[in-house]
Amino acid sequence: MATLATTVDGIKLDNPFIIGSGPPGTNANVIGKAIEEGWGAVIAKTISLDASKVVNVAPRYARLRTASKEIIGWQNIELISDRPFSVWLDEFKMLKDKYPNGVVIASIMEEYNKDAWIEIVERTQETGVAGFELNFSCPHGLPERKMGAAMGQDFAVMHEVCEWVMSAAKIPVWAKLTPNVTSIADGAEAALSAGCQGVAAINTILAVMGVDLETLRPEPTVEGYSVPGGYSCVAVRPIAYRMVKEIAQRIIEKFPGRSLSAIGGVESGNDAAQFILLGGDTVQVCTGVMKLGYDCVKPMKEELLKFMEKHKFNTLADFKGHSLQYFSTHADLVRRQAEAKAMAKAKLEGKVTKDGEWKGDEFVKQSEQLARG
Ligand SMILES: Cc1cc2nc3c(=O)[nH]c(=O)nc-3n(C[C@H](O)[C@H](O)[C@H](O)COP(=O)(O)O)c2cc1C
Repeated sequence: MATLATTVDGIKLDNPFIIGSGPPGTNANVIGKAIEEGWGAVIAKTISLDASKVVNVAPRYARLRTASKEIIGWQNIELISDRPFSVWLDEFKMLKDKYPNGVVIASIMEEYNKDAWIEIVERTQETGVAGFELNFSCPHGLPERKMGAAMGQDFAVMHEVCEWVMSAAKIPVWAKLTPNVTSIADGAEAALSAGCQGVAAINTILAVMGVDLETLRPEPTVEGYSVPGGYSCVAVRPIAYRMVKEIAQRIIEKFPGRSLSAIGGVESGNDAAQFILLGGDTVQVCTGVMKLGYDCVKPMKEELLKFMEKHKFNTLADFKGHSLQYFSTHADLVRRQAEAKAMAKAKLEGKVTKDGEWKGDEFVKQSEQLARG
């Protein structure tokens, strides 16, 4: 009987579906709803020590639709949580009491200041959260304060901050990486070489959703002006698959045993299956929940189980990273194709290509066909 249950960095999860940091984990009320709906874990909205510096605008989302009005792309210029740190600490404690088996992971972000990072780690872990995700990847707003993606894009700084965190953390730590870099695998290496138990990727891709052809103003427009924002949803999934694949290969090569939480455009169990085939241990969903609601986890779990049963996989470990072996180089594809063509040609000409093809009444002819001179 196939099971979705898994243990990642010592954290026991009923299933690999995790709410990604963002609006779906923005207070105790909605986090409780996610736990009750059966999500494997919830990563809360990113918090910082001083929420008074966080001021959001409206509108802060812009969406890309197909001709049939289906939403496939979602841009946000939302900041991290604007709720006070002390309120979050109370809510984490309350959630631990109410849902002793629920898994809540705190997403944290601070300025480039060792004391601040150590303080946020120490005070947050006292609440009983299961782990940390370090937000090195929010691509808008926060980089203006040298936070988020501004840190994640400077691998030396990210490495240093991860070392600060690891010196204080008593629970597992995942570094959430930005895709807005040349090599996300190098970013993963910076975090993992500092001792983080795992990495999570991808956060949103820096984007401009479009320009209104009447007003000539970029979207989303706030008082006539805009900033590039973070792009998510189905449209980013192929890019996320590629980046997860690159990180998974680096983990296998240099950090065996470290974990990878895959993120980007997941809306179904089959999307999740593909992220796991490419090396993910868990799969996070953020925009999908904003589109479909918390109960979308049920069909996702069913579809993933169906996939596993079809292929006779009993556990996630049975197929994690399975498809990585089928990536190669272009030169190798050319070589394989030439080989396959030669085989096909030989077959076409009736030449023996396998020992089983020898026939008693054509034996001399078949020998002749294979001979030179
Ligand atoms: C409105 C919105 C707010 C987000 N806020 C955060 C955040 O506070 N911290 C964080 O690490 N990621 C944040 N994200 C990024 C998501 O967690 C996720 O990495 C990204 O959206 C890609 O996954 P998805 O396509 O499933 O949304 C946010 C995404 C959206 C759409």
